Amino acid sequence: MPRPRATWQSSPRWNPFDSPEQTKSMRVIIRETGLEASEYIADYIISRIKSFKPTENQPFVLGLPTGSSPEAIYKTLVRHYRAGDISFKNVVTFNMDEYVGLPRDHPESYHSFMYKHFFSHVDIPPQNINILDGNAPDLAAECAAFEARIARHGGIELFLGGVGPDGHIAFNEPGSSLSSHTRVKTLAYDTILANSRFFGNDVNLVPRMALTVGIQTIMEAREVVIVATGAHKALAVEKGLEGGVNHMWTLSALQMHPHPLIVCDRDATLELKVKTVRYFEAIEQTGTDARTQGPPLVYRPRTYVPAPIGASRSQQQVTPASTPPKVPKDLRINTELNQTLDDDELTPDSMSSRMVDSAISGLDSTMKGDLLFDRMGARVVSH
Ligand code: GLP
Repeated sequence: MPRPRATWQSSPRWNPFDSPEQTKSMRVIIRETGLEASEYIADYIISRIKSFKPTENQPFVLGLPTGSSPEAIYKTLVRHYRAGDISFKNVVTFNMDEYVGLPRDHPESYHSFMYKHFFSHVDIPPQNINILDGNAPDLAAECAAFEARIARHGGIELFLGGVGPDGHIAFNEPGSSLSSHTRVKTLAYDTILANSRFFGNDVNLVPRMALTVGIQTIMEAREVVIVATGAHKALAVEKGLEGGVNHMWTLSALQMHPHPLIVCDRDATLELKVKTVRYFEAIEQTGTDARTQGPPLVYRPRTYVPAPIGASRSQQQVTPASTPPKVPKDLRINTELNQTLDDDELTPDSMSSRMVDSAISGLDSTMKGDLLFDRMGARVVSH
C-alpha cells in the first residue's frame, strides 16, 4: 500500500514550516517539580484548544502519549474539565503508539492507559479517539491507515509527547529514521528494561514490538510539546537540546521543528549546561511566555469536511478486528457520573457503568467482545 502523503505537503494551510519566521524557535520551560511542569503543559493545551475554538466540523486535533510522565497532565486536564474550564467534545485525538500483541484490555496496553487516565473522565466522543491496533493481523496496513486518518483530519495541531531515558520519542528508538512514519518498531533493550516496571519488573513480559508514529509523523504536527521530568531523563534532554540532530537521540529531531516546546522539571535539566538553563529561564523571565508564543493556530477553511465517522475508520476494515463502519450517533462516554477527583490516581471504578448505551462498540469489535471495561473496572483497586 503506498504511503499516504501528509496533508501539509499538498495543502499550504498545513505546512508547519510555513509560519512567520519570528515565531519559530525552540522553547524550553523549566519548573521546579514534575507536578508544576505537568500543570504548565495542561494549561498550555487548554489555552491552545480554547484559542482554536474547535467545532464539530473543525475539531482540534491533538496527539497524545502514554507513560508515567503525562499522568499528572491528564489528571490536571480532567480537573479542569470537571471545573467546566474546558471541553473535549470537539477534540480528535491520535495516540503515539501501542504495544504489538498485548491484549487490548491488558492493564498495561496503551488503550487501557488512555481510558483509565483520560478518556473515561472527559466528554470526548469515542469516535474521535484514534489508537493504533497492535493486534491487527496486517500491522503495516494498520499503520498506513493511521497515517491516512491523520491526513484526513488535516494533520495534528499539537502533538504532546514524552521522552524515554534513551532519548526516544513515541517508540522511535535510537537509530530510527528521522524521516519515518507510522510503522512497526522493535523495542530497544533499554526501553524493555525501563518499561518492565509496569510488568512486575519481569522483562520477559514486556512486548518486544510496538506500533509507533514516526519521527516525521511528529515533525508534521503543527506544534510539538514534550514533557521531561526526573533525573533519569536528564541525559536525553541534554542530547536532545544541546547535542546535534542525531538519530541516536530521536528527541533531537525537534531541533528541526519550527514550533517545539520542551517542558522540564529541575531534575531533568541536571545534565544541561548552567548557561543553557539560564538562557531559557531568561527568555521566560523577559515575558515571552510560551503560552503566548506558540505558532499561529490553524483555522481550517469553513469548507473543511471531516471524514464521516464510519469512513474515518474504514481503512481499518483491512482487519476483522476493526471498528464497525457505522457508529451510532448517540454513543458517548457518560461524563455525568460525578466521580470525585481526589488523591493519587484517577480510577475509573467501573468503566462500563460510565458508558451510555455501549460506547465501546464505537471503538472496536474486539474490545466489545472482550467486555473490556467490565474487566478493567474489576481490576482497578479504589483508593
Ligand atoms: C514509552 C512510550 C513513550 C514515553 C516513554 C517514557 O516508551 N512509548 O511515548 O515517552 O515511555 O515514559 P515515561 O514517561 O513513563 O518515562
